Amino acid sequence: MEHRFDPSRKHVLDSPARHQYTRPQELLAWAGIAAGQTLLDFGCGTGFFTVPAARLVAPGGQVLATDIHPEMLAAVRAAVTAQGLDNVEIFPTPEAELSLSTPVDWVLLAFVLHEVSPPGQLLALAHKLIAPTGRILVVEWPREPASHGPPLKVRLSPEQILSLARPLGLVEVQRQEQPPHYYALVLKKS
Ligand SMILES: C[S@@+](CC[C@H](N)C(=O)[O-])C[C@H]1O[C@@H](n2cnc3c(N)ncnc32)[C@H](O)[C@@H]1O
Repeated sequence: MEHRFDPSRKHVLDSPARHQYTRPQELLAWAGIAAGQTLLDFGCGTGFFTVPAARLVAPGGQVLATDIHPEMLAAVRAAVTAQGLDNVEIFPTPEAELSLSTPVDWVLLAFVLHEVSPPGQLLALAHKLIAPTGRILVVEWPREPASHGPPLKVRLSPEQILSLARPLGLVEVQRQEQPPHYYALVLKKS
């Protein structure tokens, strides 16, 4: 069941309230994202995670940011320029399966798995794009009723994600739960 975020509401993604309850730089650092690494931010939206990720991987690291929606790409481009970041490459998500010339240390899937159908296919892509020592950081809405965020029926629980990840050869290495705002899972190749 697909539920696509409405780009006309993109201001919500960068609202001061969101920065209060989801501290992106802290969350990325908790996962272990560090200087010199490469990270693909898939479904980057307006750059809520792209910008802090670019700061964390500097010096020497790079962020690749992609989104299916042109309005989001324009917004992330503006954010990256405004922050004077020179280690972010932004590109539209290709219609055919995304491929990269070099495997990345991280694939970040922040609030995007519940928007794609089937989500297992995106996890499989992330598995393919990371290096043997690479990791996938999934951030999602808790599967519980809430006053904001997507409808309950499209939300994915950590167990649902793990049941898609295990057959791909991915295992959980870290988990953080911050209901009702988000939970985060770090996955690696087994
Ligand atoms: C809820 S927003 C989250 C954006 C960002 N990751 C964040 O946490 O602020 C989901 C984003 O995923 C993008 N998206 C949805 N399906 C996608 C797909 N198949 N390929 C690339 N991007 C996609 C949407 O355009 C939207 O920008």
